[in-house]
Amino acid sequence: MTVHFKQDKPDNSNRLDGMKQGVLGKPLPRIEGLAKVTGTAPYAAEYPVENCAEGVLVTATITRGKVTSIDRTSVLSMPGVIAVVDDEKLCTRAAQGTANEAPMQGPAQICYWGQPIALVIAETFEQARDAAKHLTVEYLEVDGAPLDPGAVDPEEQDDETVHQGDLANAMAEAAHSVDVTYTTKGHASAAMEPHSAIAQWDGNKLTVHASLQMLNYNIAELADALDMEEDNIRLISRFVGGGFGSKLGISEEVVAAALAATQIGRPVRVVQSRQQVFQTVMRRSETTQRLRLAADSNGKLTGFGHEALVSNLPGESFAEPVLQSSHFLYGGENRELMLKVARIHRMTAGSVRAPGEAVGMPALEGAMDVLAEKAGIDPVELRLRNIPEKNPEEDLPFSSHKLAECLKQGAEAFGWECGLRKPRQRREGEWWIGTGMASAARVHNIAEAKARVTLKSDGTALVETDMTDIGTGTYTILAQIAGEMLGLDPEQVLVELGDTRHPRGPGSGGSWGAASTGSAVYIACKAIREELAAKTGASEEELELREGKTATGETLTSLLDGKDLAREGHYEPGEIEDDYTASGFGAFFAEVRVNHYTGETRVDRMLGAFGFGRVLNAKTARSQCIGGITWSIGVALTEALEFDPRDGHLVNCDLAEYHVPVHRDVPDVEVVLVEERDGAASPIQAKGIGELGMCGGAAAIANAIYNACGARIYDYPMTPDRVLAAMPD
Ligand code: MOS
Repeated sequence: MTVHFKQDKPDNSNRLDGMKQGVLGKPLPRIEGLAKVTGTAPYAAEYPVENCAEGVLVTATITRGKVTSIDRTSVLSMPGVIAVVDDEKLCTRAAQGTANEAPMQGPAQICYWGQPIALVIAETFEQARDAAKHLTVEYLEVDGAPLDPGAVDPEEQDDETVHQGDLANAMAEAAHSVDVTYTTKGHASAAMEPHSAIAQWDGNKLTVHASLQMLNYNIAELADALDMEEDNIRLISRFVGGGFGSKLGISEEVVAAALAATQIGRPVRVVQSRQQVFQTVMRRSETTQRLRLAADSNGKLTGFGHEALVSNLPGESFAEPVLQSSHFLYGGENRELMLKVARIHRMTAGSVRAPGEAVGMPALEGAMDVLAEKAGIDPVELRLRNIPEKNPEEDLPFSSHKLAECLKQGAEAFGWECGLRKPRQRREGEWWIGTGMASAARVHNIAEAKARVTLKSDGTALVETDMTDIGTGTYTILAQIAGEMLGLDPEQVLVELGDTRHPRGPGSGGSWGAASTGSAVYIACKAIREELAAKTGASEEELELREGKTATGETLTSLLDGKDLAREGHYEPGEIEDDYTASGFGAFFAEVRVNHYTGETRVDRMLGAFGFGRVLNAKTARSQCIGGITWSIGVALTEALEFDPRDGHLVNCDLAEYHVPVHRDVPDVEVVLVEERDGAASPIQAKGIGELGMCGGAAAIANAIYNACGARIYDYPMTPDRVLAAMPD
């Protein structure tokens, strides 16, 4: 039985605070943690499948044009080689990168260097890899593919454009004004688990183990790519070793494995190499961003301008939504916002953790630091003065808003010294030491979701949904929600995820997973509670459940009387979505050391304070924040995709050359979870947290670099060469 709930108005009843089990929000360790660290949690490529052949992708060595011939005979006689798949279906998906995109390029069209064009299948991985290197491919190359986003005429994204009042005039009349241009480099998701799939047929049914974030969407993509009925496909992603956006949509290894299994009548496994993951999976676009801030003598914004240039392949609809939080974070009645996309032939640009704010916020918050200095106002105070009452562009209230609390609690916990700041006040040997801060903001997303909860006659519970756990803690928080509602220790709740046979939802993306699917579980549990309450003669609100018993000591087992009780929860966001601006907020504080002679920056201390509605598990939420802050360090100091200007191929395509922060780069990170209940965000009063922790953090580091050594830098990442070049004598 399905229970549908569409949320049209806020629910501020704080129902989940009144439950007797008292397990929600507690810092429980991950349910699947032991299986993961002992190597018994199978990732996509690790499922034992008999008679499985191995496939290796072949990728294009031109930037633009088409494949004219693939000479299979060049490899078919090599040891162990079984077949070559060069089906057009593989190529038509090849330009696909964003989760909401239909295949857009014609058959066998090459639109970026490194695009998958074929698959070689052999008995062993080594044989397949060897043959893939020897496959003879001929191309018809189109010269002059545009590669430099600054050298083409960009397209304006009209729905992002805001012209409000007269910014130029506000700038001219401002007591303090800032007009600066920041750049950010492209980023890779760099998930630990490479993209991989095993496809096998059983009659006319196809089962695919793959590493994916959004199964309900991915099954439609795969059905579309293979021209099949969804009902004949089963997708399984029980454990996912990180996604960060790169597994929102299916990528070529999934389609290739399915095509190959069809062609040879055997199961086929395809695992992308680390280099292929870097070169073929979507990138975060590089950006150029102009920030204009006009303020009165008290530092209150009168004008706000943010214009950004990003890039993508021709025809792709995704444009890094750089301005997303700029629309509402600060006031200023005269506003000018614009987003433009340059069409170039680097690999597809798509969602990488916190698309938009991940790079928009570091630019905006850098500019705010420049304004604080010009206006002679403490940077925390400047932000406090500019928090708007309501959305400054849309006349919408905020669903809830904890920026001020985050700024204050964060400053307090960090030991922020308020007042006027001057660079170069502390030096220890070769090192300049300084501090900086920035606000955090990330829009709250939520989507329709379904989950089935079964209260078993033995008094345990089962939760089933196609939702994924990409390392975020989904298994654990869903067990906590069900445990809290049904009065069970979470250990009595079995959670089954990542299988399209279960009720479907939006999966993991845009930080919507916990609030969306968590709400579906909550709705199912509420319906079960109603049934149980009826049996006891109480109302659902009155029903107290704890450790498998009612307040009067009656056990769930006796109430169930030998029968299972199952309900499917179906959550749908209603009008509430249009009635409020919903966002998570926060504040970052950093202390850095900058070497006077080498320009090297070390982050010595970092703290983030975040308000994102109800905390479902204080440990997994904190882990998300620490992960986000770690990404912030990468954005600030090291991470950058480097493209060859001649053919647009990605040069630094492994973890030795693409520098994510490692343990020695990351200090003990402190996280303050600011209490909040957001009744308009979701039925469980929670907002997203996965991405908020990296939205602005890089600016806290950039601002600390300036405070430490006086180098004001407008280009991320702030590598030693850039720091040295900007260092005053
Ligand atoms: Mo996210 S970048 O929507 O996984």
